[in-house]
Amino acid sequence: MARLVLGVGGGIAAFKSAQLASLLRKRGHRVRVILTPAAARFVTPLTFESLTGEPVYHDLWNPPRYGDPDEALGEAHIHLSRWAEGALVAPATADLLGQLASGQARDGLTAFLLAFGGPVFLAPAMHHRMWLHPAVQEGVERLKRWGYRIFGPVKGPLASGEEGLGRMLEPAELADLFEDHLHGRDMEGKRVLVTAGPTQEPLDAVRHISNPSSGKMGYALAQAAFGRGAEVILVSGPTSLPDPYGVEVIRVRRAVEMYEEVARRFPEVDILVAAAAVADHRPKGMQAGKIRKEDLPFQVELEPNPDILKEMGLRKKPGQVLVGFAAEWGMDEASARRKLREKHLDLVVLNDVSRPGEGFEADTNRALLVAEEGKEELPLLSKRELAHRILDAVARRLSRG
Ligand code: C5P
Repeated sequence: MARLVLGVGGGIAAFKSAQLASLLRKRGHRVRVILTPAAARFVTPLTFESLTGEPVYHDLWNPPRYGDPDEALGEAHIHLSRWAEGALVAPATADLLGQLASGQARDGLTAFLLAFGGPVFLAPAMHHRMWLHPAVQEGVERLKRWGYRIFGPVKGPLASGEEGLGRMLEPAELADLFEDHLHGRDMEGKRVLVTAGPTQEPLDAVRHISNPSSGKMGYALAQAAFGRGAEVILVSGPTSLPDPYGVEVIRVRRAVEMYEEVARRFPEVDILVAAAAVADHRPKGMQAGKIRKEDLPFQVELEPNPDILKEMGLRKKPGQVLVGFAAEWGMDEASARRKLREKHLDLVVLNDVSRPGEGFEADTNRALLVAEEGKEELPLLSKRELAHRILDAVARRLSRG
């Protein structure tokens, strides 16, 4: 739970920032909003006040009183720069980006941003031609060099009725990215490969063997690693989830395809997290077209799929970290330890898929992290939070070298 400043610029996407403020508050953060004068014409200060339960700063010359004990020590923007642990600017308009990139402070928001030394995330939104203007692009490059993180814009329908690269990310995506990043940047410079989802092993053109894995755990891991600064590649079986922002996604269907994609990239990565529920077997010899109902066999001959993780374990170079999952019927630590040794892993995330609300399709998971030197029992957590706990364990390993 953090103390956050949400800065809102004057663009039509400002209406989404009301939802963002509400989401961040629901997730337990304290949120103080600063509106630019232009933003206050799109959404009223009262909207944000009601959603956050905090005074809203929208007039540089008439700042609010927050009621904090140390408030007398400076102007509102200076006070907030001491109070906040992180700041998110959404939408960041062309004007706001330009002001920040050239060190101007014409309103409460830009004054705060110049004074604030903590992490700042900018979520640009504007017409796509404005975004591509060299003044904006050069400003953005400069801001990145100074350590600002820029999320979006993304392609999609714009307020002008056109399509283009100019849409702000959705509030839920921004809230996730922001929270992920607040965990720190301990994965900066690392390359992370994640497998996720089920695989489908076709019997013919319309039938296959698969499992109910939703991919949520692997996607959460990919997103969390990106938030912490890593370069992330996600090799995903079929899922209904959207591509996580900032992550290179490779979609595959069968285990052998997943194996090929992983094997090709494995030599270049620092960390492999195998969260995919790979089908252990596939029907022998896929039939072309659809087998007629009358001709369907009562028994299907199967052959083994490659064990992707085990193969990578054999090719592991010093310094590479390998994480596997063990979905077991019951918390079988001995079997997790066996997997750790047999597949040459650094960490096994053991979870009990016999319990409702955990594992496969759920949003939550309870896990035991098993490593050679010990174990860590985690409570029931959201898959995002569990992803961070797994990455914490990986980061501890990396820092030990
Ligand atoms: O041995 P078991 O299938 O339980 O091991 C699970 C772990 O191995 C998971 O991390 C899973 O992603 C990985 N795995 C794999 N390729 C397979 C089977 C499992 O990468 N064919």
